[in-house]
Amino acid sequence: MNTPTFLHDILLLFLSLSQQNQPEIITRLFTEAMNSLVPDLGFAFAKEFPDPQVFYYERVFTQHNQFGWITAGDQYQYQTEAQKTIIRNTVRMLAIILEHATQRKELQKTNRELAEALKHQETFLANMSHELRTPLAAILGNAELLRMQPQIAENPKQTRYIGTIEESGNHLLELINDILNYSKIDANQFSLHKEKIQLEPICQQSILYVKAAAEKKHINVEYRNDIPEQLIIADPLRIKQVLLNLLNNAAKFTPAGGQLGLKVSKLSSNSSIVLEVWDTGIGISPEDQKKIFHPFVQIDHRLERKFEGTGLGLAISKRLIEMHGGTLSITSEINTGSSLKFVLPI
Ligand SMILES: Nc1ncnc2c1ncn2[C@@H]1O[C@H](COP(=O)(O)OP(=O)(O)OP(=O)(O)O)[C@@H](O)[C@H]1O
Ligand SMILES: [Mg+2]
Repeated sequence: MNTPTFLHDILLLFLSLSQQNQPEIITRLFTEAMNSLVPDLGFAFAKEFPDPQVFYYERVFTQHNQFGWITAGDQYQYQTEAQKTIIRNTVRMLAIILEHATQRKELQKTNRELAEALKHQETFLANMSHELRTPLAAILGNAELLRMQPQIAENPKQTRYIGTIEESGNHLLELINDILNYSKIDANQFSLHKEKIQLEPICQQSILYVKAAAEKKHINVEYRNDIPEQLIIADPLRIKQVLLNLLNNAAKFTPAGGQLGLKVSKLSSNSSIVLEVWDTGIGISPEDQKKIFHPFVQIDHRLERKFEGTGLGLAISKRLIEMHGGTLSITSEINTGSSLKFVLPI
């Protein structure tokens, strides 16, 4: 058998073994094959290195460490540079195959461990959210009962205290819901309840909601819907959740006296609709734009930062839109404003 054909066959064998994730077998077979079948080529898995006769070697790595090397010796005095090149290339390829096979095995192990950890995390989150929500419901319920007491209703100071309890309690409730929502989406355990809906009323309600917050900051709110009659198949609750997230952000990150708005239109291809939430606010640098869709990311993450929130709004929104078969994207310029667009298939 001439050398190149033989090497070719051996390579194919290793390749197929590596695809079956069998690094140990490959290593053993490789050593045996090289030692017994083709001693002529002088390949060896050398435990001791450097071997004075080695003319070429290639290190083999796991993800973190070197686990061996493949060497080609020159004790048989290869005649030509061409022969040496074949051997060098073969060794290099075998090293790569072995490396890939080993890394794939490591990866599978890591994936299994991650899946296990995720399961614990889900149970933990489900239990925690139940444990937190139950006393919180009691706190909020009792605050409401207190507010209805005539002697408290007449006392502005006490009414204010109760207001603070309710505000903080509701904030905490939102936070727990966000965390639970995100972890469910992340674990693919979140399902949409899609139906045929008209977007117009959802947009109007969302705009009304954000207007209240915007007015406090003297922010002007604009709304334009080019396709008010348009129907789409979507989960109304989730679309509203996304809209509110985006509109809240626009109000939060726009200084007093600025503007924000919502524009609904159809793509010229007629296959999708676009909802654009824009503002004339602080904007986001190109560098930060890459990060904001990750969970818990806030551009200003100092403890003394002036904006409230957990950094989950955009991460949840992006996933919800993707679950609808759509996309969420941003264009923004620092100190000029931002535009967050989501496209939904009709
Ligand atoms: N319209 C915007 N203008 C400027 N920065 C924005 C805008 N929208 C989002 N960001 C930046 O992206 C970050 C992530 O937004 P996201 O909505 O995920 O979190 P958040 O609003 O801080 O908290 P949450 O929505 O969970 O209450 C924000 O903290 C802010 O730094
Ligand atoms: Mg937000």
